[in-house]
Amino acid sequence: MIILGIESTAHTFGASIIDFDNKKVLSNEKMNYTTKSGGMIPSKVADFHVENCDKVIDSALEKAGKTFEDVQLISFSQSPGIGHMLKIGAFAARTLSKRLNVPIIGVNHCIAHLEIGRVLTDAKDPVLLYASGANTQVIAYEGGKYRVFGETLDIGIGNFLDSLARFLGLGFPGGPKIQELAKKGKKFHKLPYVVKGMDVSFGGLLTHCKNLYSQKKISIEDLCLSVQETVFAMLLEVSERAMAHTGKKELLLGGGVACNTRLQEMSNIMCKERDAKCFILENQYNVDNAAMIAMLGGMMHTSGTRQELKDTEVNPYLRTDEVLVSWRN
Ligand code: ATP
Ligand code: FE2
Repeated sequence: MIILGIESTAHTFGASIIDFDNKKVLSNEKMNYTTKSGGMIPSKVADFHVENCDKVIDSALEKAGKTFEDVQLISFSQSPGIGHMLKIGAFAARTLSKRLNVPIIGVNHCIAHLEIGRVLTDAKDPVLLYASGANTQVIAYEGGKYRVFGETLDIGIGNFLDSLARFLGLGFPGGPKIQELAKKGKKFHKLPYVVKGMDVSFGGLLTHCKNLYSQKKISIEDLCLSVQETVFAMLLEVSERAMAHTGKKELLLGGGVACNTRLQEMSNIMCKERDAKCFILENQYNVDNAAMIAMLGGMMHTSGTRQELKDTEVNPYLRTDEVLVSWRN
């Protein structure tokens, strides 16, 4: 089955063609909305997606060597995300589904991050550490549902890194810039480490880091090093606790921050110490991508899930544990 996947939960508009029967990604295209300074204004990002969606979809078909006539299912990100942007992907998916007369299926973006890992690696039943710009969650399958075992109580880890980088004058996206500077750091400074039960929080740490730097109490390199060591240890503490609680022996990283090599290294160490396996995807599948949307759409369709156009309304706030899981037993 040839599936077209469409992703538009945030600043990325993505389109992918997969050969679902052979679990092969034939193309995985994307365009990212960026700004020189300041944050994202949802209506502006939505305009960007409207302007570029056909280019990205055409490019995905071309790279895959397919045409619209080959497409047998259309899958799109239905939840969660920013409403303005979700609606553009849903609109494109509905239009194509009607025009091509093929079924449509809306999927949950967070669960797609986990499912692409089960397809592309040997992971069977992992705990997902989903660390992206807006999201920071530890997710695993238990009792017939995907459950969130821990999450951020305020901002996402990527937004934290981006805000700090903006303050330090490093530009956007901040994660990769902080990673490079951290490599040159020499001394670890103890910073506030905020784990509350299974949850983490970054707001207070952000203020603390800004104050330390303003008062010239730390070099930029040492700050980046100390920040990475601290926040990644927090993420891995809650991930490890979720693994212990569920008895799962696999950890999967997902989200843009999973591209960070120090986080990958620390994850490998944690897993090794508890005799578990750590799975790391290629960067193109860590960041927001449409291949994972196509893959989850294929799993749902094959397990019998069907959607009418009237059921394809987007839901920016759907919780992970509200998703009916039809494709796992
Ligand atoms: P979502 O909508 O799922 O929350 P997103 O729109 O934030 O996703 P992603 O592409 O998943 O998009 O993640 C982007 C984030 O990843 C940014 O905050 C960026 O700084 C961070 N990032 C990218 N590369 C690295 C890296 N090497 N180290 C740390 N952070 C990184
Ligand atoms: Fe994401």
